[in-house]
Amino acid sequence: MKTQSILRPSRRGFLQTLGAGSAAAAALGVIPGFGRGLAHATNSNATHHVAAAPTSVNLLPAGGMQTPVWAYNGTVPGGLLRVKQGEDVHVRFDNQLSEASSIHWHGVRVPNAMDGVPGLTQKPVAPGEIFDYRFNARDAGTYWYHPHINSPTQLARGLYGALIVEEAEPVAVDREFVWLIDDWRLGETGEIDPTFNGGHDVGHAGRLGELVTINGVANPAIAVRPGERIRLRLINTANARVFAIDFAGLAPHLVALDGHPVTPHVPDTPVFLFAPGMRADFILDVPPDASGDFALIDRFFDGLENPLARLRVQGNPVRGDIAQTSMALPANPLPEPDLQNARREQLLYTGGMMGGGVLRHLVETGKIEAGFLGEVRSMAQSMMGMMTGGGVWMVNGRDPERDELGPLFSLGNGESCVVTVTNATAWYHPIHLHGHAFRVLSRDGQPTRYQEWQDTVLLAPAEQAEIAFVADNPGDWMLHCHILEHKFGGMSGFIRTA
Ligand code: C2O
Ligand code: CU
Repeated sequence: MKTQSILRPSRRGFLQTLGAGSAAAAALGVIPGFGRGLAHATNSNATHHVAAAPTSVNLLPAGGMQTPVWAYNGTVPGGLLRVKQGEDVHVRFDNQLSEASSIHWHGVRVPNAMDGVPGLTQKPVAPGEIFDYRFNARDAGTYWYHPHINSPTQLARGLYGALIVEEAEPVAVDREFVWLIDDWRLGETGEIDPTFNGGHDVGHAGRLGELVTINGVANPAIAVRPGERIRLRLINTANARVFAIDFAGLAPHLVALDGHPVTPHVPDTPVFLFAPGMRADFILDVPPDASGDFALIDRFFDGLENPLARLRVQGNPVRGDIAQTSMALPANPLPEPDLQNARREQLLYTGGMMGGGVLRHLVETGKIEAGFLGEVRSMAQSMMGMMTGGGVWMVNGRDPERDELGPLFSLGNGESCVVTVTNATAWYHPIHLHGHAFRVLSRDGQPTRYQEWQDTVLLAPAEQAEIAFVADNPGDWMLHCHILEHKFGGMSGFIRTA
């Protein structure tokens, strides 16, 4: 049993911050749950201290090997920040790395100066400097934090953590788990492969790693009880890996996406597609008569399945029947876009390997209008530099990393906007907008069933989606692919709201 290594002393501190770990459980080789920690009782309006610094952790299940990482507050993931909806949050960030960094509050509708994007919203936080982040947690939900400078390197080295904003009246569950899912590309001695932004990764699926972890542990065994109702908050912190999660027949209800409530439902697909940057809250009922292990598996790549975790049913039943209390979360105070009068914008993503056929197909099927394509083409031609390296990916014919073209588009304060986002490539792309949440209105022309609010919309190859939002948060806001190597290769840009 390799779970012995999961509870080595160096890891125990982190497990406790997530409410897990006990000597008895360690002896059984089982983690009793990555649940909510008592250490994180909400301390309203306190200052939270987050320091980024090098350290090392054990990631390899066989144990022994130390992997040097960069971490927030000494653990991977970094310390769990838990606040209440409506609370004023103050985080003092202390950069103890040897390079500049910052913190971006992914999904949180912060004031622009607090968004943590060096070069756009703040100066880089130099080594040895501190920066105070202050914002109001106006939306409840599952969020996360990470650097927004040299991101492919800094995230791959371990810099990420969860930010949980609690509802005033949360739904009733027996326990809550917060799982940050990541993958690691390691060398033979357990060190992080130091080749970042490699040309192949940038032009294909991004940096994928062979070792998948949940909260820094490979394939943990987690004890659950029969009949237990669990709120599972999932966060994909990987640079590039899209997971296709098979819940081993447990059929949990999806109750929130990217922090925001969605009508509770069991997804009707056999696997749940979960891309970098995204969050998903599930309510999972362990069947009262269950026993043994439920093995959760990532099935994104055929023949390259990754074990994620094992839920090990143990102990006395919590209840004799599935809990019947409501799973619906209270809505967040998001402004409803005015679709009738909304401004229309388009984003066309092209490039990467094998993209030509997809673009042709989308033109032939009328998904991309000839006029718009003409504009995009002339933009691309005026930037012929892209042919000679650098800009592997483009948005609307331009490579925003290599020009001074300004915002992708600008919106008036309070203006509603519907954006048609088209993936004219052979790859998956999770497109993330800062500072706002948008409704996903349609996919490939079909209205979405739940009109879900998201901040990161995953587009399959050749897929087109319409998203809508109200530009009610003034400033310059990044709009980019959250596969960090794609962003590096040009799938990036920003919008300006007045
Ligand atoms: Cu999670 Cu622009 O970032
Ligand atoms: Cu991408």
